[in-house]
Amino acid sequence: MTAARAGLLPPGAAAPQAPVRPGTRPRRHVFPGSPDQAAAARRFTRRALGGCPVTDDAVQCVAELCSNALQHTRSSGSTFTVIISCGPSSVRVAVADGGSDTTPEPAPPVEGSETGRGLALVARLAVRWGHHGGPAGRVVWCVLEWPAGAAQAPSPP
Ligand SMILES: Nc1ncnc2c1ncn2[C@@H]1O[C@H](COP(=O)(O)OP(=O)(O)O)[C@@H](O)[C@H]1O
Ligand SMILES: [Mg+2]
Repeated sequence: MTAARAGLLPPGAAAPQAPVRPGTRPRRHVFPGSPDQAAAARRFTRRALGGCPVTDDAVQCVAELCSNALQHTRSSGSTFTVIISCGPSSVRVAVADGGSDTTPEPAPPVEGSETGRGLALVARLAVRWGHHGGPAGRVVWCVLEWPAGAAQAPSPP
C-alpha cells in the first residue's frame, strides 16, 4: 500500500520515492503542460537519481528538454512525460511531448543571444542524444555517463 493510500500523506501529495536502481524499470511521470511544471520535473529527476554522480547534469538536461516541450510543442496546455532509466554507469533521461511541426535541432551559436542554447547544452553534457516521433508526439532523449567504478551508482532503497 502506498503512503498516500495508507493516509500518511495529504491527498494529492507526491509520495517520496527511492532512487531508480540500475537495471530496473524506468521511472516515469506525467506532468501537466504548464510552465510551473518544469520545476516539478527537475525535482522528480533529482529524487529519481538520488546520489548518482551525474544527477546535476541530468537535472539540467531535463530542465532544457521540458522547457522545449512547453515552448515548442503541443504539450503546452496538455501534458509531457519525463522518463528516467539507470544503468551501472549511465543514465538516460527522456521527455515525451505532444509533438510539433518543428524538429529538435541545436541552433548555431549567436553571440549575445539568450535563446537557442538548450539543445547545444544537452549535446555538450550528454554522450549522445536524439529524438524520434514527429508532429503527433515526440521523445527527445539523452544519455549521460560516468566512469564505471569511479563513483557510486544510485543507492538502493
Ligand atoms: N521537443 C521539440 N519538438 C520540436 N522542436 C523542438 C523541440 N525542442 C527543440 N525544438 C526546436 O529546436 C530549436 C532549438 O532548441 P533549443 O536549443 O532548446 O533553443 P530554444 O528553445 O531557445 O529555441 C527550437 O527553437 C525548436 O525549433
Ligand atoms: Mg530550448
